[in-house]
Amino acid sequence: MTTRQTIAQLFDLSGRGAVVTGGAMGIGRSIAYRLSEAGAQVMIADIDLDTARQTAEKVTERAGTRALAIRADASSPADAEKVMQATVEAFGSVDILVNNAGIYPTSPFLQTTEQLWDRVLSINLKGAFFYAQAAARRMIEGGRGGRIINLASIDALHPHVELAHYGSSKAGVIMLTKDLALELAPHQILVNAVAPGTIMTRGIGGEAQARASAGKSTQELMDEFIRRLPLGRPGTPDDVAKAVLFLASGAADYMTGSVLVVDGGYLLS
Ligand SMILES: NC(=O)c1ccc[n+]([C@@H]2O[C@H](COP(=O)([O-])OP(=O)(O)OC[C@H]3O[C@@H](n4cnc5c(N)ncnc54)[C@H](O)[C@@H]3O)[C@@H](O)[C@H]2O)c1
Repeated sequence: MTTRQTIAQLFDLSGRGAVVTGGAMGIGRSIAYRLSEAGAQVMIADIDLDTARQTAEKVTERAGTRALAIRADASSPADAEKVMQATVEAFGSVDILVNNAGIYPTSPFLQTTEQLWDRVLSINLKGAFFYAQAAARRMIEGGRGGRIINLASIDALHPHVELAHYGSSKAGVIMLTKDLALELAPHQILVNAVAPGTIMTRGIGGEAQARASAGKSTQELMDEFIRRLPLGRPGTPDDVAKAVLFLASGAADYMTGSVLVVDGGYLLS
């Protein structure tokens, strides 16, 4: 029988080393804040090093635990190795990996090029695979298990026009989550996914703007989304970060291979 932990103990991530890909801004930045607030030391791995550094400084200032930034491309297996190595050197271990980096450019199916398909699949799916592999190797060496949390999307569960390439990549992320959960369970590495709905980030604003030029205004598109939301508001990055924190915490000790939907009820409508 394990000892019953208090709520504070369940959510205490002190002494853990975490990696958040795409952590410079958006959902990843909020995840870095929450993990850090819970005591984890966080490596922010992003292609935008300047912004990642600024975020790391703010996280350190606000949460008090050390956050660092490293330039890394989510689609590069070599960068995955580099990030895990740097994290072990800086924090002593990699205990938590959040595969958050992802892109979601809209494109009508009939006009989608091989180049766009390859770029989306490389960052969203191949990246999650190889970052998980590099992290899991360190977690196994460390011998104390670990957590891998992948950012999927409701677009993996429900079709969306002009997002066939993206939906396919995120459906792949869900299957990857389940496969890794099974294969890494003997090592006590728990692998779960979060599937956000519409979350207000710069990325989503940019996409709405891009689509607006094709006929509708940004506001019209956002209103369309919001009308479909049972909870009556789009999500915030912190709505997703709290779900990631839960999956990284002792409160999720018996969960692996799960997909947590964080969508304000969108899939119900
Ligand atoms: N915002 C939403 O509504 C929404 C909904 C469902 C799922 N998601 C998923 O959540 C994740 C984060 O989305 P967001 O809206 O915060 O995105 P965002 O565009 O606001 O921020 C993405 C971050 O990833 C970084 N990045 C981009 N390409 C990278 C690469 N190749 N390597 C490393 N870093 C890279 C960017 O520099 C940026 O810091 C993505 O996986 C996205 O698919 C977002």
